Amino acid sequence: MAKTYRVGIVGAGTMGSGIAQKMAQEGLEVTLLDINEEKVKKGINGIKEMLDQGVEHNVFTREKAGATLDRIKGTISYEDLRDMDLVVEAVFEDQKLKGEIFRKLDEICEPKTIFASNTSSLSISELAKSTNRKDKFIGMHYFFHPAKNRLLEITPHEDTSKETLKKVSFIGKLHGKTMIIAKDAPGFVVNRFFIPYYVQAIRVLEECVANIPTIEKAAKEAFGVGMGPFELINVSGMAVSAHAPNALKDECGNFYAPPDILKKKAEAEELWDLNGEVEEDKIKEVQELLYGAVFGVVCTMVDEGIVTVEQIDRGAKVGLRWEEGPFKLINKIGIDKAYEYVNKVNKRYPDLDFEIPETLKDHYKSKKPFEFNFVDTTIENGIANIKINRPEAMNALNDEVFNQLIEEFDKAEKNKDIKAVVIKSAGKEFIAGADIKYFVENIKNDTLDKTVKFTKRSNNLLRRFETSSKLTIALVDGLSLGGGTELALACQAIVATPEASFALPETGIGIFPGNGGMIRLARCLGPEVAKYYVFTGERLTAEEAEEVGIITKLVDITEVDKAIKQIIEKGKFDKYADRELPDKYEKIKKVFNKKNVLKLLNGEIPDGIDKEFAEKVVKILSNKAPIALKMANEIIDEQMKVSIDEAIEIEIEHNTEIFNTKDALLGLTNIGKKVEFKGK
Ligand SMILES: NC(=O)c1ccc[n+]([C@@H]2O[C@H](COP(=O)([O-])OP(=O)(O)OC[C@H]3O[C@@H](n4cnc5c(N)ncnc54)[C@H](O)[C@@H]3O)[C@@H](O)[C@H]2O)c1
Repeated sequence: MAKTYRVGIVGAGTMGSGIAQKMAQEGLEVTLLDINEEKVKKGINGIKEMLDQGVEHNVFTREKAGATLDRIKGTISYEDLRDMDLVVEAVFEDQKLKGEIFRKLDEICEPKTIFASNTSSLSISELAKSTNRKDKFIGMHYFFHPAKNRLLEITPHEDTSKETLKKVSFIGKLHGKTMIIAKDAPGFVVNRFFIPYYVQAIRVLEECVANIPTIEKAAKEAFGVGMGPFELINVSGMAVSAHAPNALKDECGNFYAPPDILKKKAEAEELWDLNGEVEEDKIKEVQELLYGAVFGVVCTMVDEGIVTVEQIDRGAKVGLRWEEGPFKLINKIGIDKAYEYVNKVNKRYPDLDFEIPETLKDHYKSKKPFEFNFVDTTIENGIANIKINRPEAMNALNDEVFNQLIEEFDKAEKNKDIKAVVIKSAGKEFIAGADIKYFVENIKNDTLDKTVKFTKRSNNLLRRFETSSKLTIALVDGLSLGGGTELALACQAIVATPEASFALPETGIGIFPGNGGMIRLARCLGPEVAKYYVFTGERLTAEEAEEVGIITKLVDITEVDKAIKQIIEKGKFDKYADRELPDKYEKIKKVFNKKNVLKLLNGEIPDGIDKEFAEKVVKILSNKAPIALKMANEIIDEQMKVSIDEAIEIEIEHNTEIFNTKDALLGLTNIGKKVEFKGK
């Protein structure tokens, strides 16, 4: 299905063709423009090659690759961009050229068309001056390769309208981007700290603190990355890397200036030699100097009000694939140490305009770690939109997220002007379950009481969603797993888009769903069908979930607001009302009845049922944790006899027992891998 928005891309080079590919892959109609037929063809052929690779590696089907290409139209005529909703410019990094292009677009395009630039280093407000629609001008900074790297920095300038920002963010969501919205400042977000990171690494080499292999190892360990700064420069291009710091140096000072050895390498068109012996005794000093530079810069960015700590960490994790963002790293290392490293860099380079930022000084004084805000609320027309904003972790639910959800829901419940609460999330996925790391930590530290406490608290909130006097609606527009599916099932209504899916895969990782998902599914679909989904972990697609009445409204993403409005107008309803399931569920009901299920769990095929289907089920169940299956079976049976509150208590009573099994630890520490459960 083609999505409603039409996008033009100017420049079919590395970035333009990558952006076009990603947009078309996600269903947008794209028109790709370059200066001549040859360039357009080159861009489209590059996309074709990437798509073929995707098919070879089973990332998508041949049909999807074909449909993607069909959505891309090549052109050399600006007239073809006349009625676009958005035009993204991705030509050479040249202010004059970009200015000319926007002037031309401004004359040709309809007034509705929004203009965006993918510039890495030019000011958005300066570029906007080439047009008579500054309110419809914005930065959209993609990362290489745009079809693979999910990060998108959106940079409105001072005249960008709210509507433009909203529309562009929506289009970003439509093509699966994880977005950071930041001010129009030099280097935007990621390059502002990534460039001084590698500049500092080169300075460390220049000052003979350590050799390249030592710096590479130190950086890889310090930031949890696969490639150190020197290898990364070799791969991304010496010339670009030597040129990029200049713009930052002009705006932000000499700390960002490219070191002489970098300029010389670029002039000589040479690569860094990565070979040599690692000098282990120098690793620590190198790490301190790298940390000092990065921590100093990111805290300065917060001082300047360009961006938040969450967004910086999101940029590092999603855009640069660092294991942790800089602020999480500061917390991990400790404020005192972080301060010491920044201080060390400050003392070492008195002439490089590297000051100790106020944000860091404040935290050093108060000894408080940085806090992260993962839940945002906006209120519009009597609806509180509570958004879980942790796309870098697929919005996984941990203690911090739950605390913030509780806080936001408390506020919404107390607010008399609010009729309904919509629970939604940022990024491509809805919620990929609970944060497994926390469960593993508690098993290893013998603190299972903490898991019980966490489960009680999360269940309590979900039950409040279910019983609140406000109408609670989950907006599921992507994959939901485990706790995410349970959260959606607890809401009073669900609005979903075709990208939504629901699954309870817990028995495949050694545990059972612990947030009321079993009883809620059983109340909707009957215990047999619930057992089928809980035991097999099979996914319900959006269409299937609609068919069985779990979804209140299934709509295209552009229709979501309308659907929510309609549900609110209609008012509350009984989501557990009796329903007829489609015929195909009859087979499941029979195979999963009380008597047959015990046989299935023993690996036997019961008599008088669809043998082929039962064999398939037995095979699936043989890969699940036997204790988790047995307990889930007994719990669902018990739950059917009592109220929902009591049913949830039953799950909680078995919490410690399941997390104490060897299979729970095995499953939880091997997510995504095939494991052989022991039944212990
Ligand atoms: N390469 C990266 O990693 C990266 C990352 C983020 C942002 N950027 C930014 O993206 C932009 C493009 O970079 P790139 O690496 O894709 O460059 P590129 O050289 O690969 O492609 C630029 C394309 O623009 C075309 N072009 C030039 N003048 C044109 C015109 N008047 N009309 C239409 N097309 C024209 C060229 O023919 C070429 O195909 C730059 O602003 C760059 O700073 C690049």
